[in-house]
Amino acid sequence: MRIIFHGHSCFEIQGQEGTVIIDPFLKGNPTADVLPEELTQLDAILVSHGHGDHLGDAIQLSRRTGAPIIGAYELTWHCERLGASVHAMHIGGRHRFSFGLVKLAPAWHGSGFEAEEESESLSYAGAACGFLLQMEEQWLYHAGDTGLFGDMKLIGRRQPLAVAMLPIGDNYTMGPEDAILAAQFLRPQVLIPMHYNTFPLIEQDVNEFIDSLHRKAPETKGIPLKPGEHFDL
Ligand code: NI
Ligand code: MN
Repeated sequence: MRIIFHGHSCFEIQGQEGTVIIDPFLKGNPTADVLPEELTQLDAILVSHGHGDHLGDAIQLSRRTGAPIIGAYELTWHCERLGASVHAMHIGGRHRFSFGLVKLAPAWHGSGFEAEEESESLSYAGAACGFLLQMEEQWLYHAGDTGLFGDMKLIGRRQPLAVAMLPIGDNYTMGPEDAILAAQFLRPQVLIPMHYNTFPLIEQDVNEFIDSLHRKAPETKGIPLKPGEHFDL
C-alpha cells in the first residue's frame, strides 16, 4: 500500500482494495502539492473533525466523485445537508467498507463545523476523532487533531500499528515532546509526523523531533514526509 502525504494532516492511502483520503485540506493549504480537482479515484473521504484545516475540500470532493465522507455523526449531518454523500460512524464503532475496515478513535479536541458556506458561524459538529484503518491486514492510525491521552496505550495494544500519523505542531495539538510519549504508548512500527510547518504558529524542527524519537522510542522509525512524498508499506 502507498501512503502519500499532501501537506498538513492530509494523507491519501492507496491499497489493493481501494483509495481513501484523510482530512483533505488542499485548496486553502499553502503547502499542499495537489488540487482537489486532480484527485479522481477515491473510495472514501475520512474527516476527523469540522475545523477548516481538516474538512477542507471534503464536501466538494464528495459531490464530484460520489465518495462518501466518513466521520462522526454530527459532522456528517452537516456535510449531507450541503450535498455530500456520507457514512456516519462514532467513536469505538467499526465498519467494513470495500477498501478496508474503519474504526473511530477518540481525540481530545473541538469540532466546530466550518464549511465556507457557513463561514459566519461555527456549528456543533460532535466530537473530534481519530481513525484506525485496516487495509491489507495492516493497521494504520491517523490521530486527527489531539492532545496526548493515556488510552493511546489501549489503541496500540488492541490494534498493533504498522503506521501512526501524529500531530507534532503544538499550540492546537500535541507538540513534539508529547508526540514522543504518544509513540511510546502506541508503539507503531512507523511514525509519520503531521500538522506542523503549515503556518508559523505550528513551526517545528522535524529533524530534531525524529532524532529525539529514535533515542526515546527506538522501536519506532520516524519517517518525515514532505508534501507530495510517499511511504510504501
Ligand atoms: Ni482542529
Ligand atoms: Mn488542525
